[in-house]
Amino acid sequence: MHARAVAATTTALLGTAALLSPVPAARAGDTGEPTVLAHRGASAYAPENTLAAIDKAAALGFTWVENDVQRTKDGTLVVVHDDSLQRTTDVEQVFPGRAPWKVKDFTAAEIARLDAGSWFSRSYTGTRLPTLAQYMREVEHNHEKLLLEIKNPQLYPGIEQQILAQLDNEGWLDRRHLDRLVVQSFSADSLRAVHRLRPAVTTGYLGTPATGTLRRYAGFADLINPSVGSISAGYVHAVHSVDGPHGRPLRVFTWTVDDAVTAWKAVGYDVDGVISDKPDVVRAALRAG
Ligand code: G3P
Ligand code: CA
Repeated sequence: MHARAVAATTTALLGTAALLSPVPAARAGDTGEPTVLAHRGASAYAPENTLAAIDKAAALGFTWVENDVQRTKDGTLVVVHDDSLQRTTDVEQVFPGRAPWKVKDFTAAEIARLDAGSWFSRSYTGTRLPTLAQYMREVEHNHEKLLLEIKNPQLYPGIEQQILAQLDNEGWLDRRHLDRLVVQSFSADSLRAVHRLRPAVTTGYLGTPATGTLRRYAGFADLINPSVGSISAGYVHAVHSVDGPHGRPLRVFTWTVDDAVTAWKAVGYDVDGVISDKPDVVRAALRAG
């Protein structure tokens, strides 16, 4: 891996494409350990996809946070995982006649009334479901880096362009921020759109494409981000063997790794990043292992 990182750095220094698109360092300080990313924020310890969850990640010492972005009925980008508000808010109580409580059927003002914390713990009562604008400001305030997932893009036509425009407005598409941002999706079409609209943005495909198809994904994705149960050392090696759209080897951030044994397994596979609800548990395992 070290040799691969050195080769990648050399390519980054020489390649025009690389100069246009700074790809985030896979391993801080080139320690040989994978980057640990806080999944939906530090979501084992604070309500997922809230400002509290990314504050908790920062408090634990983690720089990278992952989130999920969708869109309200009136066109506001919001940070929430499920396509329904039912599981992670009190929407059933506040709007009892509106089943199945889809995100796309509620306005931003209605969503702003919801409690997105008490389902998790009473101590988080009153926590709000953030807009992407509010979330980005907190990421900036915390000096964090963002793995932004476009969730359910098939429900939100044009969401790629809208997300990129908002990131641009928030100053997140300048050179200083591009190495702090990865946009990922389970949808290849959505990622293709992101790459076409803003080729400098680093992108990650969520899934485990067959090794024979990796070159196709490498046309628009810098990372392949598979579930940890779906991969092997051989698979990760195959991904690393293919160059991505910015002329550097594809990288792998795997999910969701919440215990020491699985963390060690992921390290054995030579992944570049580990996405975890319990990033502190993964960090402790990496230090011990
Ligand atoms: O970042 C990987 C992971 O977030 C993908 O699964 O369902 O938690 O969004 P999910
Ligand atoms: Ca996600």
